[in-house]
Amino acid sequence: MRILIVGGGGREHALAWWCRRGRGDVEIIVAPGNAGTSEIAENVAVDATDAVAIARLAVERQVDLVVIGPDAAAAAGVADACISNGIAVFGPTAVAARIESSKTFAKRLMDDAGIATARWMAGGGADLPRMRGFVEELRGRCVVKADGLALGKGVTMCSSTDEAAGALAECFETGRFGDAGRVVVIEERLTGDELSVFGISDGTRVRVLPPARDHKRAGDGDTGPNTGGMGAVSPAPGVGDDVVDNVAASVLQPCVDALRERGTPFVGCLYAGLMLTADGIRVLEFNARFGDPEAQVVLPLAEESGLELLHAAATGGIAPGRVRAAGAWAAGIVAAASGYPGSPRTGDAISGLRDVDSDVLVFHAGTRRDGDGTLRTSGGRVLCVVATAPTLDAARVTAYENLDRVHFDGMQFRHDIGGAPIATTSHARSS
Ligand code: AMP
Ligand code: GLY
Repeated sequence: MRILIVGGGGREHALAWWCRRGRGDVEIIVAPGNAGTSEIAENVAVDATDAVAIARLAVERQVDLVVIGPDAAAAAGVADACISNGIAVFGPTAVAARIESSKTFAKRLMDDAGIATARWMAGGGADLPRMRGFVEELRGRCVVKADGLALGKGVTMCSSTDEAAGALAECFETGRFGDAGRVVVIEERLTGDELSVFGISDGTRVRVLPPARDHKRAGDGDTGPNTGGMGAVSPAPGVGDDVVDNVAASVLQPCVDALRERGTPFVGCLYAGLMLTADGIRVLEFNARFGDPEAQVVLPLAEESGLELLHAAATGGIAPGRVRAAGAWAAGIVAAASGYPGSPRTGDAISGLRDVDSDVLVFHAGTRRDGDGTLRTSGGRVLCVVATAPTLDAARVTAYENLDRVHFDGMQFRHDIGGAPIATTSHARSS
């Protein structure tokens, strides 16, 4: 079997690793990939959001399956272009991906399907008086979200009416999020632990993966700016199978049913971002893809073949239930470049990867190899070191010990992924 994985981050490296595991016979192409994927697959320098070029590549190389990594590729219609060329795709069409690319669409669908979510309202600049009224009703404890894709930066948490007024002004007056922020969702601000659950869907049924907890803020103790994610653990501490089954039955399956009933079936990974509140589970957001770095910790725990599951989803053959998983824990620590999440510095040489234990995984993200073979940084999140072990503590300690052997100038990471801070000897420091 020959597959094409679309994207070039840590998630795509983890997907390639998962599809390759136990399957010497699979040929994997990654577009555009990174230095890590080039070791287990063939990289082809095609932009992940160029739907026509990706479909052309899939046709030319006669691939049996296209796997879409990033939301931007799904929103750009990569699945549509490949499907219209008769190729099986794991990843949603652009209209099904609206569950992520439009928060208003997602909130309406949740209300219609009876999926529990925070109280909300949406509007444009002309609705400002009504929106201010809703903010008053929530006594300023609200979250202001740009409707469209904003690289995780379109969300402002507010504790007062003044803060909310400032956030609304940023969207409507300064146009900070461009088109993505012309429509804004205001939500009640909830409190509780967060949880990510991933469902693999064939458009009708859902197979659910182990839950994960992501760490989005840049610095230790949840300080500093929001990032794409600085590390994750799986399963999520304190979250049992009963919670996962409940999410599958009351969140993922109703969402898949609602999208199918609208004539836009969702094939791919449906990601529920959840909060465990005192009143029960609430959906904060849906994404139309695997989380990054959550995929890097969830997929190594899945005992089933990635290739077979993703192909089954793309061809309508998913059996419901939980994906069989090792009864172990995984911890993944992201090493990011200096300047991330702002403007990261690139071009620094990366050393120490050869000293990493053979059973510890290093998923690359922003890496490239020079002509002379030197590995260099080429993006904000550079790599993610993932260890699995029978306990969460053992997984965390092993991941940090191994991360400590890796170095590049300006490397930053959090010391408290999955629990209390762990001291490292590294010259690296958290931001
Ligand atoms: P979103 O992109 O909608 O998931 O929002 C990004 C982050 O903002 C989430 O991971 C939460 O930490 C936070 N957040 C979003 N919505 C809410 C909410 N209604 N209440 C509290 N926190 C929220
Ligand atoms: N790590 C969060 C995300 O992938 O959206």
